[in-house]
Amino acid sequence: MNRGPFIFIGVLIIVSLSWALTLVKPIQEAGNLQAIGIGNDRIPARLTGLAEQGRDVYQEQGCVNCHTQQTLALVGSDIERGWGERQSMPLDYIDQSPVFTGTNRVGPDLANVGVRRGEANWHYLHFYNPQITSAGSNMPPFDFLFETREIVGEPSDRALELPEGFRPAEGFEVVPTRDADALVAYMLGLSQAYEIEEAPTPEKLAFK
Ligand code: HEC
Repeated sequence: MNRGPFIFIGVLIIVSLSWALTLVKPIQEAGNLQAIGIGNDRIPARLTGLAEQGRDVYQEQGCVNCHTQQTLALVGSDIERGWGERQSMPLDYIDQSPVFTGTNRVGPDLANVGVRRGEANWHYLHFYNPQITSAGSNMPPFDFLFETREIVGEPSDRALELPEGFRPAEGFEVVPTRDADALVAYMLGLSQAYEIEEAPTPEKLAFK
């Protein structure tokens, strides 16, 4: 007896079923997710216009090659490191396209960086040269997001206050470009510090 057709149909059924379960079901579930609440109470919180532009800079500069934006509670030590208080959930990402969940962690996770580093000036100095705020850092400087220009008349009130050793030549100042402003606004806006009921936290997991 030729069993070929049976084997073929059997394999076809198994492959299509596993495809459906691994792909279609999660896409359906995540695709139907909707924001909770409106205005300032909305979950997930909305980014401002400038911060939205900062997302583009983040993408252009390839920050995703070194940084993730997803806090893990089920494995690893993200919570102990203070990178978040709960597992990141699909709902956190519904406004984002593309999402920058990332896979490489040369630097810290940034899902909640706006919460733990809420000071704009820190980010300006860090982007201009990470060695100013984080000596020994592996992060490259993004000084091309700043303009070094001759001071004409009064110095700009936007000029960076740089420490000794990082200052430009006498008579020059360093001011952020719009891209730097957008990137900093984006950093300050990165937060998943709202509650999502079904999100695993260390406390919930402890009772399992
Ligand atoms: C080559 C890898 C690399 C790239 C590319 C990179 N970073 Fe980093 N980043 C690091 C490392 C390592 C650290 C930790 C040391 C430090 O603070 O500089 C870090 C730290 C940070 C921090 C501080 C996080 C904290 O919790 O203290 C922020 C914010 C940040 N990076 C943002 C960015 C952004 C935005 C970009 C793209 C413009 C970027 N990084 C590109 C490696 C990288």
